[in-house]
Amino acid sequence: MNRIKLFCPATIANLSCGFDVLGLCLDTIGDEMIIYKTDTKGIRITRITGADLPLEPEQNVAGVAAMALLEAVQPDCGFAIEITKNIKAGSGIGSSAASAAGAVFGINELLGRPFTAKELVRFAMKGEALASGSEHADNLAPALLGGFTLIRGYDPLDIICIDSPPALFATVIHPQITLKTSEMRAVLSPEIPLKSAIRQWGNLGGLIAGLYTNDYGLIQRSLQDEIIEPLRKRYIPNFDLVKETALKNGALGAGISGSGPSIYALSQGIETAQKVALEMKKIYNDTTIPFEIYVSKINPDGIRIIN
Ligand code: HSE
Repeated sequence: MNRIKLFCPATIANLSCGFDVLGLCLDTIGDEMIIYKTDTKGIRITRITGADLPLEPEQNVAGVAAMALLEAVQPDCGFAIEITKNIKAGSGIGSSAASAAGAVFGINELLGRPFTAKELVRFAMKGEALASGSEHADNLAPALLGGFTLIRGYDPLDIICIDSPPALFATVIHPQITLKTSEMRAVLSPEIPLKSAIRQWGNLGGLIAGLYTNDYGLIQRSLQDEIIEPLRKRYIPNFDLVKETALKNGALGAGISGSGPSIYALSQGIETAQKVALEMKKIYNDTTIPFEIYVSKINPDGIRIIN
């Protein structure tokens, strides 16, 4: 195989109580990537459509991730990458992760799969570090593995895959403003009160238990964030109103998607997720801020080969 075409899905990181450790994979929005095996060694990014991003591999998240993989394999060939960006940079739904994950996934396939999907996360993290200054994997792991993923530990990397309860659907509204992850990380406090930490890890444990046992009530009680959300929400227009509206219309929980500005809600059943989308839409229709809105099942597979 000398060419591969991929769907590289968007993802929701943090999910309120799981900052930097929890994420899920979306199904209805993602980038496309085509990777060609070439005789010339090294990585070339030959085309990017839909975004104004650098073609120099050293300055591109896909390029950096791909180079980290090549460094480990030292193959006798190179790769050319074409990217169609549908996920905007600075959207909070894993734009850089989709590019980094796509590059390492595709090259790994073209090389005959020397690494497992879990092992690829480590290489893709180099791309995430370029994008945000931090090697977090909470968007990368669900993009590569699908479903929900928990990063139990970073050193060594210990990733746990969790299937989604069958009736869980995500609604995401993306106000078209840009929030840089690096800047949204800089607003966070490096220290947290013990009482807040206790409530947050209680909720994270509760959410994981709820996902394993399909206990939607437990999921609902656990989707809370008293550490990160209060510091970031002021950068997202209408955040409180959107969240309150989602909950009033039956969502199990709602919060900031990744580092924002996207806002996510999780619902039991697609009808509720669609109703939540409709009501979120009404709020932003009353502003001058353009937005996109998505309703999606939880993608169980992660990145898909589409050729
Ligand atoms: N966990 C990360 C953050 C996700 O919230 O900063 C954004 O890439």
